[in-house]
Amino acid sequence: MSLLRIENLEARYGAFKALHGISLDIEPGQISVILGANGAGKTTTLRAISGIMERSGSILFDGARIDGYTARQVVAAGIAHVPQGRGTFTDLTVDENLRLGAYLRSGKQVVEDRERWLEFFPRLRERLQQQAGSLSGGEQQMLAIARALMLRPRLLLLDEPSLGLAPVVTQSLFKTLAAIRAATSMTMLIVEQNANLALEIGDRGLVLESGNIVLQESAERLAKNDEIRRIYLGYE
Ligand SMILES: Nc1ncnc2c1ncn2[C@@H]1O[C@H](COP(=O)(O)OP(=O)(O)O)[C@@H](O)[C@H]1O
Ligand SMILES: [Mg+2]
Repeated sequence: MSLLRIENLEARYGAFKALHGISLDIEPGQISVILGANGAGKTTTLRAISGIMERSGSILFDGARIDGYTARQVVAAGIAHVPQGRGTFTDLTVDENLRLGAYLRSGKQVVEDRERWLEFFPRLRERLQQQAGSLSGGEQQMLAIARALMLRPRLLLLDEPSLGLAPVVTQSLFKTLAAIRAATSMTMLIVEQNANLALEIGDRGLVLESGNIVLQESAERLAKNDEIRRIYLGYE
């Protein structure tokens, strides 16, 4: 069974329809990648799933309808969203940010979870007492992801994790995401402009164009298809 099944999802900003009834399935344990040009509706798709904005259509998560849920209820159901631009609390320390991620739990569990995720992000361990705002861009992205993982999600939504990062930092971040999936079978839905790297760690690719899904394909086949890359992803 799909972990997430979306049917005919629509979302609008005022009179402007940003999603024209998209349908997609996310299988458990898979990394799915949403690709598409600027303005295609990638961020809107994640916001609609998360309940941050009005939407219509059907969203089934683990068999339950969640399209009527508030953003808080979506998180409680097990979906964590790392927004574009990260959204760490820059005045708080790394440790405080991580503990906030676990606000639904307390005590020993929090420490155990923190240890677990710090294994994947050793740079954060070295900087636990440092203010989040003093971290590099890559470290802040790691912190945002680790904080989302502290929610113990069953689905992790990542909006352009590579935005503003140097290629070598992006590469290491994607390696870490692949390692997390390998170790935990965490299901991920990643929005990326950096198609090459994302398709390397992804199982499936979905291409959005003007609020429509125009292609759903295995990541391997998508990565090899030059024509599709040229037409939809702007690669020469
Ligand atoms: N707050 C907003 N108000 C009005 N239009 C918006 C808003 N946010 C996004 N849009 C429009 O919705 C469309 C999809 O945007 P978005 O989902 O952010 O695209 P992407 O993440 O793929 O770059 C674009 O045409 C964008 O201009
Ligand atoms: Mg976006």
